[in-house]
Amino acid sequence: MSMARGLVTTQSARFASLDPLLPPAAEPPEGDVLSAALPDGGRVAGMLSHQVNPQHSITRLWSATEVWELVPLLGSAGGAAMDALLRAWRHRMDALDTSNPDSSCVVHWPSRDAEATRAFLDHGMVPLSVLSVRTAPPPTRTDRTLTIRRATPADLEPVVELALEELRYSSFVGSTVTRREAPALKRRTMGERLTQGGPVWLAERDGIPVALAECAIVTSEPGTAASVRLPYGRWGYVNCVSVLPGARGTGVGQQLMAHVHQELHRMGTVGTYLYYNPPNPLSSVFWPRQGYRPLWTVWEVRPADALR
Ligand SMILES: CC(C)(COP(=O)(O)OP(=O)(O)OC[C@H]1O[C@@H](n2cnc3c(N)ncnc32)[C@H](O)[C@@H]1OP(=O)(O)O)[C@@H](O)C(=O)NCCC(=O)NCCS
Repeated sequence: MSMARGLVTTQSARFASLDPLLPPAAEPPEGDVLSAALPDGGRVAGMLSHQVNPQHSITRLWSATEVWELVPLLGSAGGAAMDALLRAWRHRMDALDTSNPDSSCVVHWPSRDAEATRAFLDHGMVPLSVLSVRTAPPPTRTDRTLTIRRATPADLEPVVELALEELRYSSFVGSTVTRREAPALKRRTMGERLTQGGPVWLAERDGIPVALAECAIVTSEPGTAASVRLPYGRWGYVNCVSVLPGARGTGVGQQLMAHVHQELHRMGTVGTYLYYNPPNPLSSVFWPRQGYRPLWTVWEVRPADALR
């Protein structure tokens, strides 16, 4: 599809001018094609995909069950084009069954595209998550009052407990959905991560675990899912960070992450990345203070039918 190819090329150039850390725009995935006419006679397009996450999928812990995701192809065009495409999307949704209350419309878009932000807000979407990156070198010296160590399979109980505390807090202030399956899903995925010797750390005070950092190593290279979001290289992915409620705001998270950044750097990573929720009053302050800045914003509206 040559129109799509042309739009991908010019979109890549626009992304590079918006933010030097964005990778080149990717070829669009399979999906239904949406298109919209612009006042100057140009056309823009988007690929719309539809996914129903199975009941026991881990994705349902932070996502609606039924998801429509749009990948816009705007080429070199900006906010007016995004507005036109979102109008076309709303029109398309009118023809579909969007009655499921556990549903969402989702777009991932460069955080620094201020013009597009206007269009997303006008169409009822909210910046529910941001993929943020840290590329600074790790701190060389840190003051340590806690014991910080790698977690092992024997630590499954405190690891699951801390992970569930993070879910509980995030369900009030972010994308996390309270699901009955959460404890079993976390037990399974954390168990697998620990058994495989994954990069997971616990911080202890007086021998009691007070904080968790569950991470992974993710390589962005041609053809991988990560290459759509991140420059090529080996990255540290910070998946779940949780400080016990009574220990928050006392420097535990800061000490733990200083150690984690040193260790992930030692493992040969070019930087680290994570998702946080801008409405989370703790993490939205904490992560920028630890050197993270937004790269992609995940715009969402739940339920899907609330798209304007
Ligand atoms: C977000 C979270 C991980 C941050 O960890 P934390 O331990 O609460 O954060 P810290 O105490 O290290 O840092 C917060 C601030 O407290 C400061 N602080 C340090 N020592 C302190 C003390 N003795 N008393 C009070 N504040 C102190 C830190 O310096 C930091 O401020 P600064 O950045 O201005 O220096 C934690 O609050 C948490 O688990 N929240 C709930 C779950 C969650 O939101 N997880 C993240 C999902 S992405």
